[in-house]
Parts: sequence; C-alpha cells; structure tokens
Amino acid sequence: MSSTFIVLGTAVLAVLLAGYFAQIYLPPPKPRVVGIDLGTTYSCVGMYHAVSGNVTVLTTQDDHKCIPSVVAFTGNGILVGYKAVAQSEHNPYNTLYDAKRFIGKKFGEKELQETQKQYPFKLKADSDGMVSFAVVINGTERLVSPQEVGACIILELRKAAEKNLSAPVTKIVMSAPAEFDEMQRNFTMKAGSLAGVDVLRIINEPTAAAMAYGLHKKSNLHNVLVIDLGGGTLDVSLLNVQGGMFLTQAMAGNNYLGGQDFNQRLMQYLLKVIESRYHKPLTDKEDLQLLRLAVEETKLRLTYQHKDVMSLSFHSLGNTLFQETVTRQLFEDLNADLFNKVLIPIEKVLERTEMTHEDVDEIVLVGGSTRIPRVIELVTKFMNKKPNTSVDPELAVVTGVSVQAGILGGMWPLTVSAVELPSRVDKIHVH
Ligand SMILES: *[C@@H]1O[C@H](CO)[C@@H](O)[C@H](O)[C@H]1NC(C)=O
Ligand SMILES: *[C@@H]1O[C@H](CO)[C@@H](O)[C@H](O)[C@H]1NC(C)=O
Ligand SMILES: *[C@@H]1O[C@H](CO)[C@@H](O)[C@H](O)[C@H]1NC(C)=O
Ligand SMILES: *[C@@H]1O[C@H](CO)[C@@H](O)[C@H](O)[C@H]1NC(C)=O
Ligand SMILES: *[C@@H]1O[C@H](CO)[C@@H](O)[C@H](O)[C@H]1NC(C)=O
Repeated sequence: MSSTFIVLGTAVLAVLLAGYFAQIYLPPPKPRVVGIDLGTTYSCVGMYHAVSGNVTVLTTQDDHKCIPSVVAFTGNGILVGYKAVAQSEHNPYNTLYDAKRFIGKKFGEKELQETQKQYPFKLKADSDGMVSFAVVINGTERLVSPQEVGACIILELRKAAEKNLSAPVTKIVMSAPAEFDEMQRNFTMKAGSLAGVDVLRIINEPTAAAMAYGLHKKSNLHNVLVIDLGGGTLDVSLLNVQGGMFLTQAMAGNNYLGGQDFNQRLMQYLLKVIESRYHKPLTDKEDLQLLRLAVEETKLRLTYQHKDVMSLSFHSLGNTLFQETVTRQLFEDLNADLFNKVLIPIEKVLERTEMTHEDVDEIVLVGGSTRIPRVIELVTKFMNKKPNTSVDPELAVVTGVSVQAGILGGMWPLTVSAVELPSRVDKIHVH
C-alpha cells in the first residue's frame, strides 16, 4: 500500500520536476489558444505569453490593433474591416455592420421595420425567423446571417494570428455581453465554428475587462464596477471578485447610448450648418457617408485636442471646400444630456445591490467612448474615485479574453485560475 504511494509520489515528483526544468531551460511555448473580442463596432485578437505573462494584441490591418466589425460583399468577393469601410460609401447596401446586435435574435415584423430605419442595408427574417441581412451579390439577393458576418471577422483575425505565430490556430476563447442569453451565446459559438475554430469558452465582457487589470489575482478586492461605453451600447456591471471567482451582482445598461449617438448629434449640427451655407440640404447617400466618417475622426481627435478643423467637399454640392471648426466644448454641449445619461445605470446597479460609491473598490472602463474626457470627469465626480485607465479601454476585453485563453491553454506562469460563477441577474434597462 505505502509502496504504491511512493511509486505514485515519485511519478508525480518526476512530472513536477520535468515541468520545473522545462520552465527554466526550454524556450517559452507558443500560445496555442488565442482570445478574440468580437465587438459590435471593433474586433481584435490577442495572445498570452508564457514566462513574461504579457498579452499582446496583434496588429491586423495597416498597423491597427482592432478592425472595424464591418463586412462588405462586392462583385470581387468579401472584404473585412478597414477594407470594407474604405468602400462603404460606394456600396452602402452591401456593407454590413452592427451584426452583433442581431446575433441569435428573432424580431417581430414591427421591431424589424423600426430597426430597419437605422441602417442602409436590408434586414430580413430567415426561414427560422432569425434576423438576417439581404445583400445583393452579382445581381442576386442572398441572405447573410449575423453569425456568418461574425465568422468573416473571426477568420480575418485568425489569419492574422496564424501569420504572427507561423502556426495554425484552431482554438479560441471569445467574449460576449453579460446579458447574452443561451441562444445568443450559441450563435456566437456558431460564428467561431463557421470560421473553422473550436470556441473553448465564452466569458462575459465585464469579467474579461476585470481580468485585464489582473483583478482575478487580487485577494483583498471585492466589488468592481465595470463601465462599458462602446459604439452603440452602455453596459454597467457590478462584479464581486473573490479568489479568482467572479460573480455578477447587478447589471444595468442602455442599448441606445454610445459613440454613434454622440456622432449623430454632431452630424445633425453639421447638416444644419451645411444647409445654411449651401442653401440646400445634404441628402446624397455617398456624401452623407463621407460626412459620417469625418465626424467619427473629429470626435476621436477631440479626445486629445480642444478643437478640430473639418475639411470636406461634397460632390452633390458642387465639390467646393467645406470647412468648419469644431471645439470640444461644442461637442460636449451637443451631447450634454447624453453624457449625463451614462450615470443612470451606475445609480441603478448601486441601488440594486444596496451599495454606495464607497463600497466599490475599483472602477474599470471599457470601450472607446470611455476615453471622452467629459465622461471620465462625470464618472469620477459621481463615484468620488478615479476610474482605472491603465489598460486601453478598447483593448481591455481582448486582453482579458487572452488571459483566459492563456489559462485554458495551460500557459505557465499562470497558476491562478479564473472562474465565472453562473448568476441569474436581470439587466435593468434604462433608455
Ligand atoms: C512584458 O511587459 C512588461 C511591462 O509592460 C515589459 O516591461 C516587458 O518588456 C514585457 N516582456 C516581454 C517579454 O515582452
Ligand atoms: C461575382 O461575379 C464575379 C465575376 O463573374 C466573380 O468573380 C465573383 O466571385 C462573384 N462574386 C461573388 C461574391 O460571388
Ligand atoms: C506578432 O505580434 C507582435 C505584437 O503585435 C509583434 O510584436 C511581433 O513582431 C509579431 N510577430 C510576427 C512574426 O509577426
Ligand atoms: C445551445 O446549445 C446547447 C449545446 O449545443 C444546447 O443544448 C442548447 O439547447 C442550445 N440552446 C439554445 C437556446 O439554442
Ligand atoms: C489600476 O490598476 C492597477 C492594477 O490593478 C493598479 O496598480 C493601479 O493602482 C490602479 N490605478 C487606479 C487609478 O485605480
């Protein structure tokens, strides 16, 4: 009996020692599992590195770390990311974006028509009643599902990872909004399998963001507020973290608030300026798309500078130069009520959990729109605490997903684990 134990013990010791010496003498193993953040507006891929414990987010197209979640169908094939955006003004009907909003969803006729108004492309229900996109390829209409759009994006990211690793990538970890139901998670998985990869796990985006800050390793931490303000949605989650275990305690959000709404305010303002300057409204689809892209760029620049000069010419208005100076102050004034709305879901999750701002140990910001100086200012004032901004808010989710990929890929020195406890909290919707 005892000799069995000794033999077993020796075997275990040998394995441990082999692992120990391997860690010291062998080159670090290459990541085998990559993390993918399939976002509503941007998507990226990252990997966890053994030994250093660093995560790198790969540059995928033209030095960009993230690619727009945009897929275009053209006579010459399918374009993804920046390549799809570049041709979008000439091909608005076949350029699909926001697909994540529709993944795993059935829409009633009325909801479909309401939503249709916001998009240049055509929405249709497929034979199962699931929302799909109707694109016209070479003169023939074809239904493209949101998971197929997701698969095109995943494939693009997968190719970038394979190029970087010089090895095939067959396993990924993905993230999903905490509020996604089982159906939406299943269809997210399907996007992965359509792209030819095995999705090992789907973790919630707020959990991923908290992991990007290493909060799964902190022992003296309890409550983490995750504020995710992206292109089209605001999600606020209150997580309880203990010994690597994450429990979502409350969620609140606004599905109609995000960067695109802030753009829209500036867009409406500029349309008025244009109309009064040219005595004619701007209605041409391609010109409107040109203005839309310029508005996005101006908004991004206003994060770092106090004013920006827009210079454009519209072919439908005779191609004369249109110039307009936009200040950060103007941008903040146009959006004052929307920015204030960011605080409402924060109030709601605190109310729901019967906590005050003092009970929150850490504030994690996610999503490009949390870079807006006025948003940070409002949150800081309301919480009486500075949000943690050391991780790029647009890379927080992919960084955390990559850490989880490292854990599942068994990459040392990751001795910690991170587990998400199932929780059944309902998201409080505010509008
Ligand atoms: C890992 O990240 C740290 C801090 O960002 C950096 O100093 C270090 O050089 C990185 N190590 C590797 C191997 O990339
Ligand atoms: C459209 O037709 C062209 C030429 O016939 C072909 O090369 C192309 O692959 C087709 N596009 C799609 C998306 O099927
Ligand atoms: C892989 O990606 C990292 C991070 O972007 C980069 O530093 C490295 O040079 C890339 N390696 C290859 C072989 O492309
Ligand atoms: C999701 O997928 C699992 C496993 O394939 C299946 O058991 C479950 O019924 C699916 N749920 C929905 C809502 O489709
Ligand atoms: C942000 O998080 C890091 C890592 O947990 C921590 O070292 C730093 O003090 C935090 N900063 C703020 C402002 O909370």
